[in-house]
Amino acid sequence: MRDFFPGLAGVPAAKSSVSFVDGAEGILEYRGIRIEDLAEHSSFLETAFLLLFNHLPTKLELEHFNRDISQRRRIKYRIIDLLKSLPEQGHPMDALQAAVAALGMFYPTHEVLDEATRYLTAVRLIAKLPTIVAAFARLRRGDEAIQPRDDLSYSENFLYMLTEQIPDPSLVKIFDVCLILHAEHTMNASTFSGMVTASTLADPYTVISSAIGTLKGPLHGGANEAVIHMLEEINSLGQIPAYLDHKLANKEKVMGFGHRIYKVKDPRALVMQGFAQQLDAHRDTQSLFTLARAVEAHMESRVGTKGIRPNVDFYSGIIYHRMGIETDLFTPIFAMARVTGWLAHCFEQYQENHLFRPDQIYEGPHHRPYEPLETREPHSQ
Ligand code: CMC
Repeated sequence: MRDFFPGLAGVPAAKSSVSFVDGAEGILEYRGIRIEDLAEHSSFLETAFLLLFNHLPTKLELEHFNRDISQRRRIKYRIIDLLKSLPEQGHPMDALQAAVAALGMFYPTHEVLDEATRYLTAVRLIAKLPTIVAAFARLRRGDEAIQPRDDLSYSENFLYMLTEQIPDPSLVKIFDVCLILHAEHTMNASTFSGMVTASTLADPYTVISSAIGTLKGPLHGGANEAVIHMLEEINSLGQIPAYLDHKLANKEKVMGFGHRIYKVKDPRALVMQGFAQQLDAHRDTQSLFTLARAVEAHMESRVGTKGIRPNVDFYSGIIYHRMGIETDLFTPIFAMARVTGWLAHCFEQYQENHLFRPDQIYEGPHHRPYEPLETREPHSQ
């Protein structure tokens, strides 16, 4: 019997210098820099540059990067037409995945190792994802998509395209830091999915659309949306013990808790908790934040010793909810941030490529006879 690791848990699948995580100590670094330092001092686009090019940009490099991105925010009217043709009740992650795959048809990319092509592709993807997310959010309500504004910062422009209003600068800052915290996280499911696609030398648009599909699931990025549904279902402080104990007794997952790597509280959740608290200024006794704090306390008393603690998705949804963003846009916003990490890993993969082709342990039968259609009996399980 060969060794078998379900979910490839603990199996290194690549060498990387993009980020580092220590799950026992709760440390996350991007290119060697602690996320707490980036959250305090950096901007999302500066962090994106760091992830992609392995160093913090100079003032001039950052100016050029910002300019290149703001000049490429517009999407072609045929992408808008594509978004208009999708069912309005469909999930925005599916719309985003479809639109990103379609972008690849408008910008065919064959020279995946060419540096200039890579730069342009990265800039286009980072620039256009927010425009696609905001456009679908408006088109599905019957509103026109709002043109991006080159004079606004990345986060300011996204919030403007959602609401047609210039957002409050303090909210822009919080939103931008949330993007920094979501930008990268080592070898997670969506990054791996993107890398598998990159290993076939498929173009970056195809790589990113694979990763978006993987991020959607509730065990991964979809958890931020599921947390809000859970808190709304719990509805009041008094319901918390019964609700959580029932879930734990039935071995059901409590959304926003647990992590394959972290056995302490996710360092990203700690920063986001601070923002969620800041936004919950009125301390409403039934606010989502109040409920979340009580859920965390109850979970700690029940499963804290097993290392099941809040992850990045637990408080992020509460922040976006407070900002008035629709719940099903939380995971697309995660993708807008994570596209930077996905691209950094994708480029590493192209550089040192080895086609992913793992093995399996076959457990099926051999030498089965081919039964003719006329004599086949109904199949019983
Ligand atoms: N609620 C209740 N029990 C849990 C949870 C949870 N959220 N997470 C893990 N456990 C228990 C699980 O029941 C199992 O118990 P036992 O040993 O008694 O059988 C044990 O902990 C190990 O669980 P596992 O599912 O084998 O562990 P994993 O490393 O595969 O889990 C996880 C990682 C993220 C899939 C899981 O914790 C989970 O499903 N959490 C809820 C969904 C979620 O919040 N996902 C976001 C993850 S972080 C950000 C991101 O990737 O997007």
